[in-house]
Amino acid sequence: MSAQIIDGKALAARVLDKVSEAVEELKRKHGLTPGLAVVLVGDDPASRVYVRAKGRRTTEAGMKSLEYLMPADATEDELLARVRALNENPDVHGILVQLPLPGHIDTEKVINAIAPDKDVDGFHVINAGRLMTGQKALVPCTPRGCVLLARQARDDLTGLEAVIIGRSNIVGKPLGQLLLNENCTVTIAHSRTRDLPDVARRADILVAAVGRPRMVKADWIKPGATVIDVGINRIPAEEEGKTRLVGDVDFAGAAEVAGAITPVPGGVGPMTIAMLLRNAVEAACMQNSLPLPKALADI
Ligand code: GUN
Repeated sequence: MSAQIIDGKALAARVLDKVSEAVEELKRKHGLTPGLAVVLVGDDPASRVYVRAKGRRTTEAGMKSLEYLMPADATEDELLARVRALNENPDVHGILVQLPLPGHIDTEKVINAIAPDKDVDGFHVINAGRLMTGQKALVPCTPRGCVLLARQARDDLTGLEAVIIGRSNIVGKPLGQLLLNENCTVTIAHSRTRDLPDVARRADILVAAVGRPRMVKADWIKPGATVIDVGINRIPAEEEGKTRLVGDVDFAGAAEVAGAITPVPGGVGPMTIAMLLRNAVEAACMQNSLPLPKALADI
């Protein structure tokens, strides 16, 4: 069997079109321009690339983009002061503090200083609690993207066995809740899970979010399963001195067994920024007591 390749780049482009449509409607009907602020501490090259891409996409979607670059030796108090100023700024509807932060800063403290209704990452403990208890929440972007990708392969996820490998607060745990909301039977597996390949083989939807290159092999996959690969791992390429990106799934083997699979790159990755902008629109609506524009109804 040869799997359907789920095209995350194309899906992200469709989501961004819907976000632009929603922004246009908010401007036209309510004079509201959603604003997204991104704070970067230090000059980690990968983070700089992400932040630049986020800023570009935000502007392309018709939203206001604000970027705050702080030096690597900025203190925790300075960063907290920046976050509090953004909390108070009515033109800013979404705040994202780029992770990882330098070691001298308490990440949890900074995330929980963001106003929950501006927390477009959905990392604040209030949003985690709201998601867990079925209340209206800003939901982490990558898990939200994973569900949309899975729905490309199967319209209705009801009753399916979902196995997530990885229990992080950013992906595994919130994704478990989202798939539960889709009426899946959810297992969250992790590094201490016994007989991991056997557990993975139960999955109709298998999500790999562990950060270990090509860990999930073809014989871990139930024939016809939908495989969502969250991993982005940089490994040495065949060509001397070069590197390449691979996922947590051994793609070539897995694609022979799965019914549908996301590639790396071009699967989950592009969805994360698209969902971030979607969340920024939702945050702007919440703060202005407006319903979410219809363009974003199923996203
Ligand atoms: N660093 C890498 N990805 C992310 C993300 O989705 N949100 C934040 N805040 N930092 C990141």
